[in-house]
Amino acid sequence: MELTSVLKFLENRTILVTGATGFLAKIFVEKILRVQPNVKKLYLLLRAKDNKAALQRFNTEAVAKDLFKLLREKYGANLNTFISEKATIIPGDITCENLGVKDPNLVEEMWREVDVIVNIAATTNFDVRYDVALDLNTFGAIFVLDFAKKCSKLKVLLHVSTAFVSGEKAGLILETPYNMGETLNGTSGLDIDKEKKVLEETLKQLKVEGSSENSITSAMKELGIERARKYGWPNTYVFTKAMGEMLLGNLKEDIPLVILRPTIITSTFQEPFPGWVEGIRTIDSLAVGYGKGKLTCFLGDPKAVIDVIPADMVVNAMIVSMMAHADERGSQIIYQVGSSVSNPIDFTSLQDYGLRYFRENPWINKDGKPVIVGKVTVLSTMDSFHRYMALHYLLPLKVLEIVNTTLCQYFQGKYLELHRKINFVMRLIDLYGPYLFFKGIFDDMNTEKLRRAAKEAGIEIDVFNFDPKSINWEDYFMDTHVPGVVKYVFK
Ligand SMILES: NC(=O)c1ccc[n+]([C@@H]2O[C@H](COP(=O)([O-])OP(=O)(O)OC[C@H]3O[C@@H](n4cnc5c(N)ncnc54)[C@H](OP(=O)(O)O)[C@@H]3O)[C@@H](O)[C@H]2O)c1
Repeated sequence: MELTSVLKFLENRTILVTGATGFLAKIFVEKILRVQPNVKKLYLLLRAKDNKAALQRFNTEAVAKDLFKLLREKYGANLNTFISEKATIIPGDITCENLGVKDPNLVEEMWREVDVIVNIAATTNFDVRYDVALDLNTFGAIFVLDFAKKCSKLKVLLHVSTAFVSGEKAGLILETPYNMGETLNGTSGLDIDKEKKVLEETLKQLKVEGSSENSITSAMKELGIERARKYGWPNTYVFTKAMGEMLLGNLKEDIPLVILRPTIITSTFQEPFPGWVEGIRTIDSLAVGYGKGKLTCFLGDPKAVIDVIPADMVVNAMIVSMMAHADERGSQIIYQVGSSVSNPIDFTSLQDYGLRYFRENPWINKDGKPVIVGKVTVLSTMDSFHRYMALHYLLPLKVLEIVNTTLCQYFQGKYLELHRKINFVMRLIDLYGPYLFFKGIFDDMNTEKLRRAAKEAGIEIDVFNFDPKSINWEDYFMDTHVPGVVKYVFK
């Protein structure tokens, strides 16, 4: 690992970014354009039907956002010209050959020009169809690798994966690559081609039976969870990401490969400004539910360490790591980017910050009234959650069912609505439960070594800070993250 100036490394480089309208990708793109305007070219691949639609998507979903406000201040009316000089927005799809890029001349140009590929595209939905997730998170990564192999001057392929939570694994989760067929619970027999066959056969069978689109979607979601849990992963998303890593490691040949596994990504800590975030992400659903007065209980082990990391630190780690491993032919390195080892924060503290923030700054609802929040019941085990649900929801549902039957379905609408809501909550708990009771922490020794090497080499660590020890969590949650969620996510 040889470290030089990151800014110099970026100068005159051509970088291909997949999934360019995603949360993390936009922060990455903004950062590069802001700190190194002399980057040669960014090829930004995103899903759209043609060039015009792609450009429009990038403009509305990225450039028009607050995230780009420093660049807007700097370039004013010339921002669009600057972006069009530096970025080529490309309609594409990583589940297709040549990443779905239709123009053969552009494909040739990319193979000639690209120095770095950053694969960020993914489905991050925990409750996703197995066929969708396998095509994208597992085989999509291989289409990106195949593309990388054709890029004649490629220096490095950076693949963004995810830190893997498993209910069955506690203690230190290592920054080690997966071997083909390795599982989290030791169950043998994981074979990625077989997974593809299992799902194709299930789909075929469902079609033969004339199943509706809705039933096929439900069956595909169930199949993903079933296969993931068989091998020790809590959901389809992380399972398919893990298989993507396995294939990349196995098929990379001499491509320098960096796999970066962030933990739970939260709003920006510092850059381009503190508190930018988008969409309701994992732990933020708790903040939104609580702040709006809709959450009556919290579920989770109070002592569990919740590993969170601000998005700009993830982006900084991505940029420094791609520079550090450029041209290391055939190498593979894993970086877990999180906080649970360096600067852990527990569930109780997170709850406390949320409670205090909304007591001091109540959310004003659409009727213009402040939502007064109180203490919530904390359910610290799954058993206590099931008892709580039985008493507060399942029992009233049963009573409603009896009354409804007695009154000739008079309350049918109400009954079905309550039933649907309870099923939804149970599904969420099934999917998120493993995270709330997770007993592991994520080793970040490789990331720490990278931080130290960057510091010793005197590279621009103030511009590319990814040290979670520099975060005071109370300040961050009270003054940055929760206000950011309120500003950008509360509707
Ligand atoms: N957010 C987190 O807390 C977190 C934590 C750990 C790891 N990660 C990883 O970080 C990466 C980025 O996550 P994120 O939170 O930024 O997710 P995100 O906002 O959902 O972004 C994912 C992007 O991928 C694009 N995409 C989906 N299918 C595609 C395809 N077939 N071809 C090209 N692009 C496609 C999506 O575009 P469309 O709009 O067209 O669907 C979307 O813009 C992912 O790899 C994820 O696994 C995220």
